[in-house]
Amino acid sequence: MKTAEENIQDLEKKISTCSFCRLSESRVQAVPPEGDPKARIVIIGQAPGREENQRGKMFLGPSGEVLNQLCKRIGLNREAFYMTNLLKCFLPNCRKPRQDEIDTCSVYLDQEIEMVGPEVLVPLGYHPTKHFLKKYGLEIPDRYSFPELFGRVLIAGKYKILPLRHPATVVHQSANFEKLEKNYRKLLIVSQTCKWHQVCPVKYFYDRGKLSKYWIDRYCKGDWESCERYRMEENNIPHPDNMLPDGTIDHNLE
Ligand code: URA
Repeated sequence: MKTAEENIQDLEKKISTCSFCRLSESRVQAVPPEGDPKARIVIIGQAPGREENQRGKMFLGPSGEVLNQLCKRIGLNREAFYMTNLLKCFLPNCRKPRQDEIDTCSVYLDQEIEMVGPEVLVPLGYHPTKHFLKKYGLEIPDRYSFPELFGRVLIAGKYKILPLRHPATVVHQSANFEKLEKNYRKLLIVSQTCKWHQVCPVKYFYDRGKLSKYWIDRYCKGDWESCERYRMEENNIPHPDNMLPDGTIDHNLE
């Protein structure tokens, strides 16, 4: 049986010669994924930019520079993740992706996710995020409220989805670096389990079959920073055992 690494290498070969859509006619080269094929976290960009199209590697251009700076500031190692794009080929004149292109190319993405077997999917920006919301039957907010999703952990079956702003938003100045840094810190949060988990009533009730795994995935092993119990614990504010991470009281818990 082939290893995850070998499977990804086979897929990379297919991607490099792919001619399933019009983008293969205008690209210089398809850009393969990079990083750890056994990573817990998969980061999904939109499509290679001009420089990536020329040089054949992900996130080398201006967005890549922002991404590298973000990783450095937060203390993250880019190589610790598996990184790929929703579309493997450059979009002429950096235009928006078309639905038929996404439908065709995301077959590769599905295979990659299956091979890597991550816990967390991190789509960057609008199109990759919308793709996953649609794929997992989650509500797609309108364009106006869409940015509220960035930095929030969503649960989609066996995956956590953590949409983040695309680094290009800094390049195009629709967001500033500090805003993005706050967003990307969530990558650190989902990489760790809440420090109170072992002694938390949420774990106690879950272990006894009284609470759904949703609470563990969404908060204890997801975004514990946004857990109301965590916040109160950290601030020495008393709180009842039957208070859920979102602050509501569950009277069935004893
Ligand atoms: N932007 C992306 O989304 N992906 C890349 O690889 C480069 C720029």
